[in-house]
Amino acid sequence: MDSTTTKSVLEVMHLSAGYGEVLILNDVCLQVAEGEMVAVIGPNGAGKSTLMKANVGLVRPRSGRVLFMGEDIAGLPPEQVVARGICYVPQADNVFPSLTVQENLEMGAYLVRRGLQERLDRAFALFPELAARRRERAGRLSGGQRQMLALARAVVLEPRLLLLDEPSAGLAPRMVELVFAKVREINAAGVPVLMVEQNAREALKLAHRAYVLAMGQNRLEGPADELLTSEEVARVYLGE
Ligand SMILES: Nc1ncnc2c1ncn2[C@@H]1O[C@H](COP(=O)(O)OP(=O)(O)OP(=O)(O)O)[C@@H](O)[C@H]1O
Ligand SMILES: [Mg+2]
Repeated sequence: MDSTTTKSVLEVMHLSAGYGEVLILNDVCLQVAEGEMVAVIGPNGAGKSTLMKANVGLVRPRSGRVLFMGEDIAGLPPEQVVARGICYVPQADNVFPSLTVQENLEMGAYLVRRGLQERLDRAFALFPELAARRRERAGRLSGGQRQMLALARAVVLEPRLLLLDEPSAGLAPRMVELVFAKVREINAAGVPVLMVEQNAREALKLAHRAYVLAMGQNRLEGPADELLTSEEVARVYLGE
């Protein structure tokens, strides 16, 4: 993609990052444009979660840049990343189990000073199954419903960019479909999405473009439908 003609929301440039002495990400580049849904697929341990964390300040980049709306946010503390409108939904433990559904949404929106009720109403309209259970503790929800709640918390924040780390992890196929349908709906409303997934086939069906990450490096990139039908991707990454 030519960044001079397409407006980039997120531009990761030559990013390297790791833990202590160990380098996990090595020279990773990717872009997310206005309105786009971009998937990063790759095997276990490829560095997908590390990439997400480096984008939001939870892992400090060793080198490279992370441009959000043209501003370099690499190395900013997470609260400043959030304040710029980037919402990150982690891979696990992404709701407060002892709080109710409604309290979870209110906690997610603690930075929001005005219009909270309208935002809650919009989130409940998108997730009616949560509205029906708003007084229940999140810990009593099924895995799929908890994932819906994590997405609903993001919706309440009205993010300018949504980062999702494996929203389908551990879910039954029917639940995966439902969660992905919600992600599609959120994106269709104009929110750019960067989604990391091990469920490569489903993620490629959903995304506009995708990157294949392996051993901390970009291996392939392209339109998601092309990667879906690529023999190389099928053989190496879809296990066929
Ligand atoms: N906090 C940490 N400290 C040290 N090493 C870590 C830490 N977190 C992850 N790693 C290592 O970094 C590598 C990449 O991990 P990461 O979680 O980014 O991979 P992933 O692609 O998200 O994997 P998965 O598909 O299992 O979620 C792995 O070798 C992992 O053991
Ligand atoms: Mg991960």
